[in-house]
Amino acid sequence: MDDGAARNVRSARHVAIIMDGNGRWASARGLPRVAGHREGSKAVRRCIEAAIDLGVGWLTLFAFSSENWQRPQEEIADLTFLLRHYLRTELDELHRNGVRLAVIGERGRFGPAVAADLAAAEARTAGNTRLTLTIALSYGARSEILEAARRVAEAVQAGTLNPESLDETKFGALLSTASMPDPDLVIRTSGEQRLSNFLLWQAAYAELVFLDVMWPDFDRAHFAEALAEFGRRERRFGARPVL
Ligand code: IPE
Ligand code: IPE
Ligand code: MG
Repeated sequence: MDDGAARNVRSARHVAIIMDGNGRWASARGLPRVAGHREGSKAVRRCIEAAIDLGVGWLTLFAFSSENWQRPQEEIADLTFLLRHYLRTELDELHRNGVRLAVIGERGRFGPAVAADLAAAEARTAGNTRLTLTIALSYGARSEILEAARRVAEAVQAGTLNPESLDETKFGALLSTASMPDPDLVIRTSGEQRLSNFLLWQAAYAELVFLDVMWPDFDRAHFAEALAEFGRRERRFGARPVL
């Protein structure tokens, strides 16, 4: 890797991942979809370990979208169970490894018990600094942006905000990602090449990497490969190319 690539790899400080393909992984093996989700949670563990090893400071994982509520009740129940199981079995180790857990999305829709588990996990790991792991749960970018727009409208109506003074920084501070840097790299597994309502505002200048691997098979080598691809990209942010 040349110096430029190495510099870029170091600068991928926030990686966001659309963990897709659990159902297809299971179908290909004649297994029920829940088996894919179960295997997918093992990939989450590998992914977090890889993020720490590879020096990524911020990792955001898309675990459940606001549109995923359209799935059958049984699958939603399986995913909710797996989420609670994951927290019960992994939180000690996450905490030991210096991981700060944060959740974005409408967690209340999973019910008060899950919301309480998530709040407790966030509170317990709040002081950790090695990796900020954000899990997007019942998350949808359009409703996040709409909610921010509603707050702007209310503030203008209340006379506490002058519309002229609204800028990208102030608007960004109204989103659920207020305290986070924008993602540098968005990875999607499963071969699909779309964002599916993930971080639409924040990923405005993210590099996108689509991997032909189903999420349950994702490992450290895939993570490193995506970072290497990121390192080969020239980020311009609309400025003229470097000659
Ligand atoms: C990703 O895998 C997990 C969630 C969206 C909850 P999918 O369940 O979407 O798996 P595919 O895309 O059907 O293979
Ligand atoms: C996106 O995957 C959401 C998550 C990975 C949590 P989906 O499987 O729900 O997306 P579509 O339906 O293929 O766009
Ligand atoms: Mg999918």
